[in-house]
Amino acid sequence: MTKRLFDSHTHLNSEELLEDIDGVTERIRESELRYVMNVGFDLESSRLAVKQARQYEWCYAAVGCHPHDVKGMREEDLEQFRILAEDPKVRAIGEIGLDFYYDNSPRELQRQWFRKQLSFARQLRMPVIIHDRDAHEETMEILKEENAFETGVLLHCYSGSAEMARQYVKLGAMLSIPGTITFKKAKKQIQVVEAVPLSHLLIETDAPYLTPEPFRGRRNEPAYVRYTAQKVADILGISYEHLAEATCENAMRFFGIGEKEKDASRG
Ligand code: NI
Repeated sequence: MTKRLFDSHTHLNSEELLEDIDGVTERIRESELRYVMNVGFDLESSRLAVKQARQYEWCYAAVGCHPHDVKGMREEDLEQFRILAEDPKVRAIGEIGLDFYYDNSPRELQRQWFRKQLSFARQLRMPVIIHDRDAHEETMEILKEENAFETGVLLHCYSGSAEMARQYVKLGAMLSIPGTITFKKAKKQIQVVEAVPLSHLLIETDAPYLTPEPFRGRRNEPAYVRYTAQKVADILGISYEHLAEATCENAMRFFGIGEKEKDASRG
């Protein structure tokens, strides 16, 4: 069986990874990692994500504004995101959502821009990558009200309950599991992995953040997604190969990657 990994959420466009970009990309090429989704968090990082996606064959991009950064957004920036989203390697709008843990932007502004970007994604018929921290109920409510599930929803770094995970699966959403699943106190996340059918699971690094064991405390990078894959496989009692291939295929399907004719016609 082939072994292919897909890091469904990473930030090659972050300062931390840019510092060592040649090393980071070389270790991606040497690994079983076949694809990465390089995610924007504001206009500048989205531009860079697209540029890198053009540069590296295995790299795709998502463009959007993180709830932390919406305080710096201007109405006319949406037009810039629209232009970026025309690139054939852009496969999602994200990361967008609500963060009521850090509250780096006023909540009312977070809500407004979350809705605006969901409606934007719907116009473009593109799936969305969602960041939700301490705003579980409201995130789901807004996603429903904005009909986001019609074009695809990926809960990045999912931190809600197993019960809510089941509701998301019923709505057709995908849930992505980060490196924190390898930590000793990951009981809640383990329950989520057990509650979600394999067909709805993805794995991610969120590099440079959330470094898995055995590298916890150091800078994360996409090649480390293998540790998350191994841990999730162990929880489910399936082989590493099976888990790697299934989550890779899930991500390819979600982002519309590998459908050759579609790629060619868009390119
Ligand atoms: Ni992220």
